[in-house]
Amino acid sequence: MSGLQAIRYTRGKLEVLDQLRLPHEHHYDLVSTSEEAFDCIKSMRVRGAPAIAIVAALALGVELYNGNCTASSAEETLSYIDSRLDYLKLSRPTAVDLGNAIAHLEDVIRSDQVTGKDGIIEAYIAAAEEIFRKDTKTNISIGEHGRDWLLDHAPAGVQSAEGKLSVLTHCNTGSLATSGHGTALGIIRSLHAGGHLHHAFCTETRPYNQGSRLTAFELVYENIPSTLITDSMAGALFATRKSADHIAAVIVGADRVVRNGDTANKVGTYALAVLARHHGIRFMVAAPTTSIDLQTETGASIKIEERKAEELTQISGAVVGPDGAVDVSRTERVATAHQGIGVWNPAFDVTPAALIDAIVTERGVVVKGQDGLFDFKDIMPERW
Ligand code: MRU
Repeated sequence: MSGLQAIRYTRGKLEVLDQLRLPHEHHYDLVSTSEEAFDCIKSMRVRGAPAIAIVAALALGVELYNGNCTASSAEETLSYIDSRLDYLKLSRPTAVDLGNAIAHLEDVIRSDQVTGKDGIIEAYIAAAEEIFRKDTKTNISIGEHGRDWLLDHAPAGVQSAEGKLSVLTHCNTGSLATSGHGTALGIIRSLHAGGHLHHAFCTETRPYNQGSRLTAFELVYENIPSTLITDSMAGALFATRKSADHIAAVIVGADRVVRNGDTANKVGTYALAVLARHHGIRFMVAAPTTSIDLQTETGASIKIEERKAEELTQISGAVVGPDGAVDVSRTERVATAHQGIGVWNPAFDVTPAALIDAIVTERGVVVKGQDGLFDFKDIMPERW
């Protein structure tokens, strides 16, 4: 398992790695209240659907542990927690993990065995810690299921001379986006650990560069053979693949998979799915069941977060000296576009289920039935 940790937690203390400073600087922020968690999530210091949910849940746990809730009765404690959770839910709207975590936490604190203010607080903290603890195990299972499915379903003729596979991923879905191991990147780790990976390609992932700043960092950190491309190079990569670099699959994460399998993920995912279909490349979505939203019927109803224009028109990075050496102690923000230009900046797009070959969860891989439709009944009977 990876030693990279986006989230460090002991009861009463939550530290979150500031991902805006990566890959140049490793700095952990203390996050002790729901306001600090909201700000940390909104500003993208932590991002990735599972990590957002974990930080929000744990931060409120720390706030409660530290006695910030001045409610005097059980009733008031419940409404304090509800109001904090309602507020945290507004931090980023597209990823459903946070909404699912909140629904679970609200159920737990209202269960029959939980009584009194202290009982409610203890139950909340234990449930938030359980969400954090379970996540890495979930990701390891996703990695194994995804690896096995791809080994069985890789298109013919894409294996390298040693029988290994190359894949492409988008955005960051690794240890930095979760409590550890990662989802789509977890599948890549599992392929690599089993000696099945020839090469991993990652996209830069404009405008926020989660691919070049974070995924590239994780791939290098793990010594996984890998290459960075810009988002716009994927078509050229698929069209000109040479024998050793045939791409077997595009493997991405998800912010919300809805009932019919339509999937919201980092903007650019949809274009990759269209390209993959054209080139006969498998398209796999790796998503814990906490990223599945069975209340929403189709992708048309998913709210897509729009972010500020500066994410497209400005960029920050470490200063490069005249000798070409990178000075990681000095970062600068520079403008990359004409100031008068209008900007549209949706953070996510929706890939139609029709373009997805497999949805890999910790409970198994969901593929379309004979009717051409995804059906989550078998893996999520309790929520179906
Ligand atoms: O805007 P971000 O960086 O939070 O977007 C992240 C993604 O789109 C990931 O693919 C998704 O959250 C899954 S992370 C395991």
